[in-house]
Amino acid sequence: QALEIENTDVNLSGFPHYMLKEIYEQPESLENAMRGRLSDEDATAVFGGLNLSAQDLRRINRVILTACGTSWHAALVGEYLLEELARLPVEVEYASELRYRNPPVENGTLLFAITQSGETADTLAALREMKRKGHPTLAICNVVGSTIAQEANGGVYLHAGPEVGVASTKAYTSQVVTLTMLSLYFGRLRHLSFEAGTRIIGQLRALPQLIRETLHCHDEVKRIAEKYAHASNFLYLGRQYNFPTALEGALKLKEISYIHAEGYPAAEMKHGPIALVDEHTPSVFIMPQGPVYDKVMSNLEEIKARGGPVIAIAARGDSEVARLADDVIYVPEVTEMLSPLVNIVPLQLLAYHIALHRGCDVDKPRNLAKSVTVE
Ligand code: G6P
Repeated sequence: QALEIENTDVNLSGFPHYMLKEIYEQPESLENAMRGRLSDEDATAVFGGLNLSAQDLRRINRVILTACGTSWHAALVGEYLLEELARLPVEVEYASELRYRNPPVENGTLLFAITQSGETADTLAALREMKRKGHPTLAICNVVGSTIAQEANGGVYLHAGPEVGVASTKAYTSQVVTLTMLSLYFGRLRHLSFEAGTRIIGQLRALPQLIRETLHCHDEVKRIAEKYAHASNFLYLGRQYNFPTALEGALKLKEISYIHAEGYPAAEMKHGPIALVDEHTPSVFIMPQGPVYDKVMSNLEEIKARGGPVIAIAARGDSEVARLADDVIYVPEVTEMLSPLVNIVPLQLLAYHIALHRGCDVDKPRNLAKSVTVE
């Protein structure tokens, strides 16, 4: 059971579906998430609504990120970000699990509830449970004035604008960019240097334009979607920062095309999923340039050796991958930390076009709802 939200008050602005409109809004929604929040003077991010002083936050020595669905995938990216930039131990918990667990949580633990709608029942219950135990709670939320936004001690709004498509797109990238800014902020409270902060701010500022350039892959993605639209199973494989991208890419496909898809850390496939590989099961590899590129490439070779078709999402200029993959979708090269934001865009488009090709209702997929306000 779930609450249905009516779509009628948001304009399609000439797009055939809300999902496509929202995919295309991402350069702008990312700009909106960052507006007024990057300080060159202090080489950090600034937030108005945390309601916790720098001294309070300096005492935090552990973070729990909780969420459901796509927001949970954003939390997984947040784990890598907070660990790398702020050197904070992080746990990511499904809200539906956290609410009924009784984990030992020490003082100095901060909970972030990540939610587009701010109304997801499990996320709200997990937040209430942590609050009851006396832990500080912050919300990363899109809908202003939503229940979770009100009940958390403070938080950060995404400013992504209304998201109507049931499959979350722009809210996801806004969540990830917000987690990047929060990681920068927590990092600068700790060991991260002024210089490193300045570099990250520069990379964040360049991001909206990079997403605009990424959208140029649309025609190529459409062609590839038509080629593979009849497959019954897909694997999505990525490592490190792009392991969550693999999960989110697979979820987009499941949600709107009803094709069975699994996301896995690329190296884990030899412990099970590789048994599924045959000439009818495409694998989507997310393989940006970076420290794990060669490792992902050898995982790709293992799939090719077993006759599986491979679609690769790779950085422009990568000619090596074109020799092995059946199809390559090129995206702009970007620092590894920000690559989940770029790499998810072709996967959103891929799911969209495969679903369209199969005649599915992309904005209102069966059995799903935008906001799940019951347990
Ligand atoms: C539903 C939606 C998903 C969303 C999840 C969590 O399942 O269909 O798109 O990711 O709820 O929603 P939230 O509003 O808490 O981010």
